[in-house]
Amino acid sequence: MTTTTTAGDLTSEVLSAHSTTPDPRLRELLAALIRHLHAFTVETRLTSQEWLAGIEFLTATGQKCDSQRQEFILLSDVLGLSSLVDLVNAAAGATESTVLGPFYRPGAPRRKMGEHIGRPEDGTPTLIRGRVSDTSGSPIDGATLDVWQGSGNGLYDIQDPAQPNFNLRGVFTTGSDGAYSFRTSRPVSYPVPIDGPVGNIFRASGRHNWRAAHVHAILSAPGYQPVTTHIFDSENEHLTSDAVFGVRDSLIRQFNPAGPGDPSDVQYVVDVDFTLAPAG
Ligand SMILES: [Fe+2]
Repeated sequence: MTTTTTAGDLTSEVLSAHSTTPDPRLRELLAALIRHLHAFTVETRLTSQEWLAGIEFLTATGQKCDSQRQEFILLSDVLGLSSLVDLVNAAAGATESTVLGPFYRPGAPRRKMGEHIGRPEDGTPTLIRGRVSDTSGSPIDGATLDVWQGSGNGLYDIQDPAQPNFNLRGVFTTGSDGAYSFRTSRPVSYPVPIDGPVGNIFRASGRHNWRAAHVHAILSAPGYQPVTTHIFDSENEHLTSDAVFGVRDSLIRQFNPAGPGDPSDVQYVVDVDFTLAPAG
């Protein structure tokens, strides 16, 4: 007598083999990963050639990574996974989060309030200012803003040997009024890199690879959940087709021409308040 193994039998066997994983969270993640991978394979009738192409793609993605290039984060961004992770972890009442992106560098210099994080040649001088508050509206003393962005040529410092180390990056810490301000350049759209394996996804799908212009920020404070977010320019042409699905309506701001009472060394002023929720 012979028996036929079905797809369902195989999935059950693999799930069972991993069901004794001691760490409960790892057990949950492994089981869900197995279920969804198996369902994907059955649904698409994945061929051996396609499976091998997938293995080769992931191998090439890893081989593209080095200390300056993170192709796996780019892959996650381009498939919307990074944005989805942000969405399911959003804290109620806090500033909305969005993708970290592949260009964050820890260790940016601490700067004084109002200081310029870049150089005049990076673009149109812009003042970004506001307050960091808790969900009841009270200012947060000692909140840290870690901000970074690309230059007017569309490149971050780590992509561009002509920029000084840590150009357009800075860390600011609020006082008891929760206020912050810094000078930077008005951000421009830039294309995400397509010279690696992830570029093949753009070419195959016919999507453009431009990001809506933005400034990055990580907000943190003792006793609060950190938020990784962006400030988007309301006049940017790619707000509705951002290459990594990072735009949130609540993060879009007007870049207002500097008026009476504003500093005379900037052309634009942007008001952005941030809200942090207590750490769970
Ligand atoms: Fe960026």
